[in-house]
Amino acid sequence: MEEQVFAEVDRFLGETIVAEDEALRAAVAAAEAAGLPSIQVSPPQGKLLQQLVRLVGAKGILEFGTLGGYSAILMARALAPEGRLITLEAKSEYAEVARQSIERAGVGDRVEVRVGPALELLPVLEQEEAGPFDLVFIDADKVNTPNYFAWALDRTRPGGLIIADNVVRGGTLADSSDPDEATVAQRHLHEMLASEPRVDATTIQTVGSKGYDGFLIALVEHA
Ligand code: SAH
Ligand code: DHB
Ligand code: MG
Repeated sequence: MEEQVFAEVDRFLGETIVAEDEALRAAVAAAEAAGLPSIQVSPPQGKLLQQLVRLVGAKGILEFGTLGGYSAILMARALAPEGRLITLEAKSEYAEVARQSIERAGVGDRVEVRVGPALELLPVLEQEEAGPFDLVFIDADKVNTPNYFAWALDRTRPGGLIIADNVVRGGTLADSSDPDEATVAQRHLHEMLASEPRVDATTIQTVGSKGYDGFLIALVEHA
């Protein structure tokens, strides 16, 4: 019953303050038509990402987990002038759907979709001396969230943000006996951050059309 109310509130928000435009609706439709799972950020979550991108004045963004390009389009639209977003996606067929939707949304000049398991793409970014980034959004395979976070922490500028989706996982984050590897990884990440002076972090639990989960938001401290 509560789940239904959460979804109804997201629907109301989608009809009022976080309405999607034609390009975003087209991106959702293209992803659905291609058989991609419907696990993109919700419109209210997407708006939060956009606000954070604007607040840090982000010019360089790295995203882990492109799917159909929905969050990439939203963040790219919020970039500062001349800003660029690189997004990493393991599945080439998802990346292709994303590229088309990104192009259709008019942000193709600002977004680069790279294909491969993120852990294999990171050394390439290193070689290119990509970054430091202003904002990193981690939303790929959840077992690797702590690894992506550790990599991002060395490559995000002071005052920048590292955001991770799906850290609360239906509340299992609080259950030390949960054997699920993705949950264990989020617990590990939080434990890691408890003694990490380089970030000031919080986790906000979220409910809505995607059920019960949460975002970790970490502000990179000045030295
Ligand atoms: N950020 C997207 C949703 C991402 S869903 C949005 O909100 O619109 C998670 C994505 O991560 C999926 O597309 C999945 O294929 C991708 N993924 C899973 N494992 C990955 C890996 N090892 N490297 C890169 N991407 C991965
Ligand atoms: C899944 C991935 C996500 O990033 C998300 O927000 C929800 C679900 C998944 O892989 O099932
Ligand atoms: Mg997610």
